[in-house]
Amino acid sequence: MFLWVHYTDMVTALLAMPIAVAAGWVVMRLPAPPGSGPSRTWHLLFGLLLGGAALRVVAAVLLLRNGWEFAGPRLAFAGPALVVAATVFWLWVRPMLRSPAGEWRVAPWPGDYWAVAAAVGAVLVANAAQLAGLRPAAMTGVGVIGAAALGSARRRTRKGWTPAGRWWRTPANAVLGVAVAAAVLVAWTTASQLPAHHSMSGGALDIGGGSAIGHSHHGGASVTTLTGNDTAGVPARRFTLTAQPAMVELDSGQRVEAWTFNGIAPGPQLRVRQGDLVEVTLVNRLPGVGVTLHWHGVDVPNAMDGVAGVTQDAVPPGGRFVYRFRAAQVGTYWYHSHEMSSVQVRRGLFGAFVVLPADAPEQGDAVDETVLRHTWVDEDGVATLGVITGVQGRPVPAGRQVRLRLVNTDGEAATFTLTGAPVRVVAIDGTDVHDPSVLDGVRILVGGGARYDVAFTMPDHPVVLDAGGPTIVYSSDGNAGPGRGGTDPALLDPARYGTPATTPFGADSHFDRRFTLRVDERLGFYDGRPAMLYTLNNASFPDVPMLMVASGDLAEVTYVNRSGQHHPMHLHGHHMLVLDRNGRPATGSPWWVDTLDVGPGETYRVAFRADNPGIWMDHCHNLEHAVNGMVLHLGYTGITTPFQTGRGTANHPE
Ligand code: C2O
Ligand code: CU
Repeated sequence: MFLWVHYTDMVTALLAMPIAVAAGWVVMRLPAPPGSGPSRTWHLLFGLLLGGAALRVVAAVLLLRNGWEFAGPRLAFAGPALVVAATVFWLWVRPMLRSPAGEWRVAPWPGDYWAVAAAVGAVLVANAAQLAGLRPAAMTGVGVIGAAALGSARRRTRKGWTPAGRWWRTPANAVLGVAVAAAVLVAWTTASQLPAHHSMSGGALDIGGGSAIGHSHHGGASVTTLTGNDTAGVPARRFTLTAQPAMVELDSGQRVEAWTFNGIAPGPQLRVRQGDLVEVTLVNRLPGVGVTLHWHGVDVPNAMDGVAGVTQDAVPPGGRFVYRFRAAQVGTYWYHSHEMSSVQVRRGLFGAFVVLPADAPEQGDAVDETVLRHTWVDEDGVATLGVITGVQGRPVPAGRQVRLRLVNTDGEAATFTLTGAPVRVVAIDGTDVHDPSVLDGVRILVGGGARYDVAFTMPDHPVVLDAGGPTIVYSSDGNAGPGRGGTDPALLDPARYGTPATTPFGADSHFDRRFTLRVDERLGFYDGRPAMLYTLNNASFPDVPMLMVASGDLAEVTYVNRSGQHHPMHLHGHHMLVLDRNGRPATGSPWWVDTLDVGPGETYRVAFRADNPGIWMDHCHNLEHAVNGMVLHLGYTGITTPFQTGRGTANHPE
């Protein structure tokens, strides 16, 4: 419903502009008196304008269901402008063109033409503002130039105001051409640019956001000092991950030129126990590109977060970097490179990171499997579970406990469907679900970067896990069988699943900081090239103000997704408690996330405690969106970074 209204409205707004210009032109091109007036074209264009106005108003009213944030911009601006313009045309221009006797005539006063031009200008301004997010100065420019162009379509002669010669030779066309070029130029030059050097050192503490431009704080702590205070001693677990190119063969026989850790893809699964001191040495053997390791969902100390240009420099070819942190949280996580991540994650630089409870028995009989959904980019995208593209069988004896850790490494949300057994969803983004009820099969929308753990007892018939194509069939004989059949189980609603438990804060807590992040969708420019933009509060990186907090603050963030796409919002270093969705409180088990899929038309309110000082990325984990600027940072006052991103550096975190 939202999508339908949203895109219909966008198209209407888009079409309103040329239609308004054309309608204006028809009036401007009327011959000097005595002449014959416009007829069909005129009526058609003005009818379209009126229809568009009505449609936009209806859309706005329908979107009131999603909240004022959705209806407001349309009701407050674009809709009324269109209504006014259409009314001007219909009530003023139409009678002015028709004599009481019914024949067409031309208005006597040139001011009427300027009124038409102004109405067209208003339509241009209001719609351009909403669609392209133009700034006030640019908007006024678009409107004035558009109106002037129309106005100049007539000139004064002895006969009064007449059309200014052949239409392709009129000054109006020159002006219009200049106007369009100017609008594009303004959009291009005012778009966000990645500077040569950009520092994410935090701005001042400021309600509602800080400064996007770095200021060094005298006496502030550097991110490099934030290594955690319990990381001395001999690591319980040591791993080496070597980034290197390798050929990955999918089960279809297809070969992908991948970038891998240790020559395999997905990279090696790292399994540790809660409380372990973990040491991972990253070695870079990739030709010509830097690499890092980010521990997605693990709230590591800031210096270990692995974001190129924010918490470290990208490790150059031939270089190495040692990550050391205490595995404090049980659960399913993953790691990936955070240098050119939109490219590097896709190409294979990722793997699973699993933290088992300290007292968990050694593997034993139970099946504990991590299932990573990944789309490989070869010629076109190939969706897989690891390297499985089709249906693959796995032998599991009846009676076994099975835990599947579902990870979506893609940017797009993926639907996992599990059928054939009573199942519980036991963890979301690493955190255990409180009191998970038994479901008769389950369908889960796993957002980009998110994880869901499901558990079941193996029955004496097959259990099928379908990840929207690639499928694993668990059965006693290990045969793949025909895959999934029958009806779809119900879609899991994490806001309603499980039972409540106490949380350190909640919807009624006093918040020290409140932030709202509005996501809009527009065609525009980013870093000098045309792009589909998903803006955060009308801005793209690095122009989105940092969220500034002081250590210990309780912060509330409201995500408003006014676009037609899913945005898996990932905050590094913290877990967020979902308070409500679309204004309705989450009533199930406390729903903790590090990556929250915010769907089209949705509004989420979340809260987190600022208890992990540093400079933390907060971005859309659809990395295509991130690389087009859908990135901001959470900054703690007084924390600075010596690292820089930008064209003049080797650090390109997205
Ligand atoms: Cu999984 Cu900033 O990333
Ligand atoms: Cu996004």
